[in-house]
Formats: sequence, structure tokens, C-alpha cells
Amino acid sequence: MSVYTTSNGNPVFNPEAAQRIGTNGPLLLQDFHLIDLLAHFDRERIPERVVHAKGAGAYGDFVVTHDITDICDADIFSHVGKTTSLITRFSTVGGEKGSADTARDPRGFSVKFFTEEGNWDWVFNNTPVFFIRDPALFPLLIHTQKRNPQTNLKDADIFWDYFNTHQESIHQVMTLFSDRGTPRSYRHMNGYSGHTFKFTKRDGNFKHIQIHVKTDQGNETLTNDEAAELGKQDPDSHTRDLFNTINKGDFPTWTVYIQVLDPSEIGRFRWNIFDLTKVWPQADVPLRPVGKLTLNRNAENYFAEIEQVAFSPGHLIPGIEASADPVLQARIFSYADSQRHRLGTNYQQIPVNQPLHALNPYQRDGFMAINGNYGSKPNYPSSFEPVSLPTPWTPTNENWTGSAVNFKFEVTEEDYVQATGSWNVLGRTPGQQDNFIFNVSSHLSGANQTVRGTTYGMFTKVDRDLGSRLEAATERAAEAL
Ligand code: HEM
Repeated sequence: MSVYTTSNGNPVFNPEAAQRIGTNGPLLLQDFHLIDLLAHFDRERIPERVVHAKGAGAYGDFVVTHDITDICDADIFSHVGKTTSLITRFSTVGGEKGSADTARDPRGFSVKFFTEEGNWDWVFNNTPVFFIRDPALFPLLIHTQKRNPQTNLKDADIFWDYFNTHQESIHQVMTLFSDRGTPRSYRHMNGYSGHTFKFTKRDGNFKHIQIHVKTDQGNETLTNDEAAELGKQDPDSHTRDLFNTINKGDFPTWTVYIQVLDPSEIGRFRWNIFDLTKVWPQADVPLRPVGKLTLNRNAENYFAEIEQVAFSPGHLIPGIEASADPVLQARIFSYADSQRHRLGTNYQQIPVNQPLHALNPYQRDGFMAINGNYGSKPNYPSSFEPVSLPTPWTPTNENWTGSAVNFKFEVTEEDYVQATGSWNVLGRTPGQQDNFIFNVSSHLSGANQTVRGTTYGMFTKVDRDLGSRLEAATERAAEAL
């Protein structure tokens, strides 16, 4: 059995006793054990993620089931049967670290693949679209979904006021307030890249792609009342479900698909593929299967492995490139920046984040340079000990021209088309449209009369019947408050 010591390894005879003078006298500054313990305790908390603070995760692997080497030369897809280990983290978005897993919210669906050519991260959601298509809006949107700066309360007025004044969000709002806004568990939900990425070949050829990760457990949801009840009984229900299921050997799996568009098709395609508020309809761009993702191991230590895991859409590998989607481009900056603040400059050296192979001796020093700091290796491109460089791939040839402008995607009629489609899809399953109206009305009834009125107008543009049914239900709920 190991001996209990101070942090510098000095054996401690009684870990539960402070040193003091006599029976009732003051304590001694020389009691390093007590100071060591308290000072470390005082620093236990690190900043929680600014969004997606509450989450759970596990390890697993990804196996290629279908050959896609005709469109992508990434090593991870090199042959059918190729297996890559990974870690996932699932999360809610708006709540704090202690908030309920059952909250109505999009869910984060992150995967870090430890490939031979670096870590590739999927930082996806369980919804195929998002609220914004201009990244400058992200902090502003999030402020309205979190707490009011004065009352420190969640605020239905600012929540709906934001959506009324930024109606490009309507498609995502339709998903959020359907029962898909309250998944049954993390195992029972899909993941979507949302963004367009590029799959590339060594010769410079590329395709635009989107990734869909479909749960094999069934895409199951909770009603508003079920979610509220479960949240009261067990705010950590989804965390518990994931841990316990894996612990008893019942490993959840997901099937991975891609949608593929050739660059030549873009001009003819109805939807702007760099607009995150739109899907690529599967009738136009069918799903192509790629592989199977299985979760089969829990973390040993939540803080070390799940709290400290650091995902970024900028963590790409040869064969995968970012598209020109402006929200994706902004995210490439934001994640690592946030992690330098949350975890420190050398966050990539934390064991859970370490790539299988990394050689980066020009990045030196900084807080917690824990991997040996590259010893005596040159910290510049030295002719005495050059680093070896891989054979370059032919660059993908995309040409962009134009002047520097403040771009603005105006909201047009086209922005309601897919939202109307979502409403019609809900109509195919008995009760789903009624649930949607109940879910919105029970939230919107907390907003003031003006905000409620504008919101009815927004939903009327999706569907006239939806607008009037929602108004009736919300006004009834508001009267009852
Ligand atoms: C401009 C838009 C966005 C910005 C600036 C942004 C920024 C951030 C930041 C700073 C974090 C915390 C990272 C950390 O501390 O580790 C985060 C977490 C996350 N974001 Fe975003 N985000 C944006 C849009 C999106 C979109 C569109 C998606 C999904 C398609 C998404 C999915 C996630 C997920 C899943 C996490 C949690 C990652 C984890 O499990 O650690 N975000 N985001």
C-alpha cells in the first residue's frame, strides 16, 4: 500500500490533524501539510466551458465499414476494417456545470479521433442546423439564452426577443422546441457536422461533405413533462445512463454517414452550402455509409479526462479541410483560444489531449510544459538538426476574390421553407405538432405581451395554422400564470 505524503512526497503521520500550540492555541505556519492541502483545495476549480459546461463522455473506437477512398485520402479511412480509438463528450449548451441533463437545449456531440496523422475532432450538435450564419452573433445569441445581467435569471423576454429579431434562427428553433430538444439520453440521439467540410485527395481533388452520426439505439425523445419530471428526480440522468450502460458492458453504437456534393454542383444547388441554418435535403443528397462508432470504456477520472478534454473544429488532419462557412471559420479560432484560457497554454500536452505522434519543438515553454519541453532539440528551423517534413499534397484549388465588406445575410422567404418542412415532418407522427405547441407556449407564456405578439408573427410565417394555434395556447397559459 502506498504511503500518504504531502505533495512533495514527505510522509504524513496524521493527515487529519492540523498543528496547533497546546490544546486550544493558534495554528502554526510551519504546518506545510495543512497549507499544501488548503492552498490546493482553493485552486481546485478551473473556468467551466463558456458554453456546453455540463457534459459526460467515454472512450471507444471507430471502424471503417465502407470504402470512401474514391473521395478522401485521409489515413483514418484508408481501408475497410481500419480502427481508430477515440474519446467523446456529450453536453447541454446553455446551462452551468450543475444544470439538469434534461433541459430543453441542443446537445453537443464531440468526438476526438486519435489518428496516425493527428487528432481529428468532430465538434457536432444533435441538430443538423444552427441558429446563426454570421459568427459575430454567437456571443450575443448565447447571452440571450443564459442569464439576465441584472436579475441573474433565465429570461423569456430576451430569449424570444432575440429570435424575433434574428429570424434566420427559425429552422433551429423548430427543432429545439420539438421533442428533439429533450433527447431521452445521450445514447438516443444523432450527431451532425452541420457545417460543410471538404474531403480531399492527395491530387487536389475534393468534395464538399456533411457528416451524419445516427444512433443505433433509436432516436428517442422525452416529452416536456417527462423531461421536467426526470430533471427533478435525477438532474444527472443522462450522465448516469451513459456511465452505467457502458459499465455493464452494453456498448452504445452509432452509424456514420456522409452527404457528398461535387464543387461543380454548388451553383445549381438550391441551398447555400455555407449557410449553417440549412440542411442538404436527403432526397437531393443521399446518405452514404462510412463506418461504425462504438463507446466501450468509461474514464477513470472525470476531471482529468472529460473536463480537460479539449475539442476544436480546427483540429483537422490531412484529407479533411474546413469549408468557407463563416461560422466554421470563426470556430477554428474560438475553441483553442478558449482552451488556452480554461486549461492553459499547453493544453495539448494534457494526457487526454495528446496526439499519438506530435513534434512541435518551435512551441516552447509556457505554463505546465509537462512533456519534457522537447529537451535540447533546436527551437528554430536549425540546419544542424532539421525536422523532417511530409510530402505535400496538391492544394485544393478554390479561388476567392472580392473587396472587404461587412457581410449581412438578409432574412428572406427562403429562410422559412425548411422550417415549414420541419413543421410538416412533425405532422407525420401523431401528437408531435401538439407537443411542439405545448413546448413553445409553456416557455413563451413567460414573456411579455409585445414579445409574445411578435413571436406569433414569426411562427405564422412558418405556417398560418401553427401561428394561430400557438397564440391561443400561449395566451391561455399566460392567463393561468
Ligand atoms: C461562431 C460560432 C461558435 C463559437 C464562437 C463557439 C464557441 C465555443 C466555445 C468557446 C466552446 C467551449 C470550448 C472549450 O472550452 O473547450 C464551445 C463548445 C462547444 N461547441 Fe461551440 N461555438 C460556436 C458554434 C457551434 C456550433 C455551430 C456547434 C455545432 C455544430 C458547436 C458545438 C460545440 C460543442 C459540441 C461544444 C462542446 C465541446 C466539448 O464537449 O468540450 N458550437 N463552443
